[in-house]
Amino acid sequence: MAKFLLVLLVFGFIISHVVSIRSLNRDVIEMKEEHEKWMVKHGRVYKDEDEKEHRMEIFKNNLKLIELFNAGDHKFKLGVNQFADLTNEEFKTIYNGFKPSLKKIKEVATESSSFRYENVSVTPVSLDWRMKGAVTAVKDQSQCGCCWAFSAVAAMEGITKLSTGKLISLSEQELVDCDTAGEDEGCNGGFMDNAFEFIIKNKGLTTELNYPYKGTDGKCNTKQSAIHAASITGFEDVPSNNEAALLKAVTNQPASVAIDASGYAFQFYSGGVFTGYCGTDLDHGVTAVGYGITSDGTKYWLVKNSWGSSWGEKGYIRMERDVDAEQGLCGIAMQASYPIA
Ligand SMILES: *[C@@H]1O[C@H](CO)[C@@H](O)[C@H](O)[C@H]1NC(C)=O
Repeated sequence: MAKFLLVLLVFGFIISHVVSIRSLNRDVIEMKEEHEKWMVKHGRVYKDEDEKEHRMEIFKNNLKLIELFNAGDHKFKLGVNQFADLTNEEFKTIYNGFKPSLKKIKEVATESSSFRYENVSVTPVSLDWRMKGAVTAVKDQSQCGCCWAFSAVAAMEGITKLSTGKLISLSEQELVDCDTAGEDEGCNGGFMDNAFEFIIKNKGLTTELNYPYKGTDGKCNTKQSAIHAASITGFEDVPSNNEAALLKAVTNQPASVAIDASGYAFQFYSGGVFTGYCGTDLDHGVTAVGYGITSDGTKYWLVKNSWGSSWGEKGYIRMERDVDAEQGLCGIAMQASYPIA
């Protein structure tokens, strides 16, 4: 009897092992297919089989992470987007081009800036500048760390619409190529306030059409840069670490904001009100184009990103507003600014 049991045990062990290896194989095959479908969808090509294998591993890990996250109770969801074959480290390096090294310099400069909206006392419960025709379609910076240019341009497109009545898509590439006097370094990162300074000195910015986006650093086309479609006379910083002040500003116009967009939750954000996880190491420039409150009472900022319309909510993210920290969620209230017509 004991012998029989032992045989049964060994047999059972072998069977279960074979079955688990089988299912493991099936998982690998399914994952490969999943990855290949994803490659087609996003037009991804790898240089060889090794690279493909390597990317498939990362893809697999990201899928697991996204699934695990979505199984939990959160106010937002993650999704398999165009960044699914990148580790979080790679993602940060490629896409987030707001220069953190300038933070210190900036904090000092902020002290003396005037704030024209300080006495604004009435702010609506919700506001969406897209509804007022002051926001152009979502753009895609692709693999160039010039979020700062997209952030500044979106804010400028907003004030241009408000002051002239015309919504004109303006050129980020002009900033990438021509704004090299300050610490701005095109695809290697830059700073929204420096972009505004360049635009003021240049006496304007040309259209997206005149100076189209390439997504790489290039030589300044001075001929196109001299054709001005819109101009600004100055810019101001929103008082730092003050979400109430940011609300006053955004009530009046879309504003450039810097955030910490380095986490995997940000990388794979697909919808809902983003409530974290993030720190306050500012590394990404985006544009606050409104705010609101959900039916469950969660207040949020409506933020335009520059990662195409397949990321987030058609290219936008709603980020929790009026959080406990004075810096705001992901540091959104730390270094906001806006151009003046
Ligand atoms: C806000 O109101 C105060 C007090 O009336 C005034 O001194 C200040 O100049 C006003 N600020 C702006 C930007 O208008």
